[in-house]
Amino acid sequence: MHFMKYISGRLPPNSNTKQARRRGFDTQTKSASDYFTQTSIGSHIHTRAMDPANRPPEIEKFHQQLKAWTVLHLKREYCVLEAGCGTGAVLRWISPEVKLVVGIDNAHLKVDESQDMVLREHLMNVQVMMGDFFHLHRQFERHPFDVICLYSNTLGNFPGMEAKLLRALAKGLKKDGQILLQLYGDKSIQPRWNFYSTIGWPNLRYNKDEKAFRAKGDGFDFVSLVFDEPKICQIVNEAGLELAEMKKVNIGYFVAVKQQVY
Ligand SMILES: C[S@@+](CC[C@H](N)C(=O)[O-])C[C@H]1O[C@@H](n2cnc3c(N)ncnc32)[C@H](O)[C@@H]1O
Repeated sequence: MHFMKYISGRLPPNSNTKQARRRGFDTQTKSASDYFTQTSIGSHIHTRAMDPANRPPEIEKFHQQLKAWTVLHLKREYCVLEAGCGTGAVLRWISPEVKLVVGIDNAHLKVDESQDMVLREHLMNVQVMMGDFFHLHRQFERHPFDVICLYSNTLGNFPGMEAKLLRALAKGLKKDGQILLQLYGDKSIQPRWNFYSTIGWPNLRYNKDEKAFRAKGDGFDFVSLVFDEPKICQIVNEAGLELAEMKKVNIGYFVAVKQQVY
């Protein structure tokens, strides 16, 4: 694979700047979550939300359950993509389970942080690069993945575009591959409200009709939906994919999606 050359964890020769270490290409796609991830203020607030040390117990439990469930879907020989890897917390625990794990994110500050973590912790089978959900087919067209993870309710950052996002991710999958999703459900509303308030999301509100959290401030524009079973089924159908598994856990769902077999 063209990205295997960086598997040693060492930087490529032109790596004297952080800019040079970023792989892939910048996004052309504007999405609901682009803005807050591309600015330093937004990125700083968002990074606080991703830090496991800041999570309240219900949310931390949801992430611990996710680890156990994910591992059941992985094999040693797998190449896995984490779409929207953020600061790399998931890459760290997937790494020992598989042959290769690639993290992509369209926010350069997050790519830098993840790459620093990978180097610091000598994660030899992890690569992090700039990339866009909606251009996976171009970036990885010759190297599809066994599993693509879209975690921390990232699907919920794209209201109205969920099916489009799943279809785009499916283009990076092997024929028998699976997309794994971690989605928040109704029971997440109270703990997330408490969590987001504590970490200082500006102008936080929960819109009952839309079933979505929103927050907005200088350099920060955030939306995150709450899912239920009918909505998940509808999105998967609309994407032309097949639901392989839906597991309801304490405050949300773990969902496995595969390509339809004709
Ligand atoms: C909710 S965070 C999830 C972070 C990480 N997966 C975790 O579980 O801690 C969503 C991530 O997706 C990234 N993102 C948003 N839109 C993207 C896009 N179009 N292409 C690639 N990454 C994107 C954001 O920068 C952010 O880091």
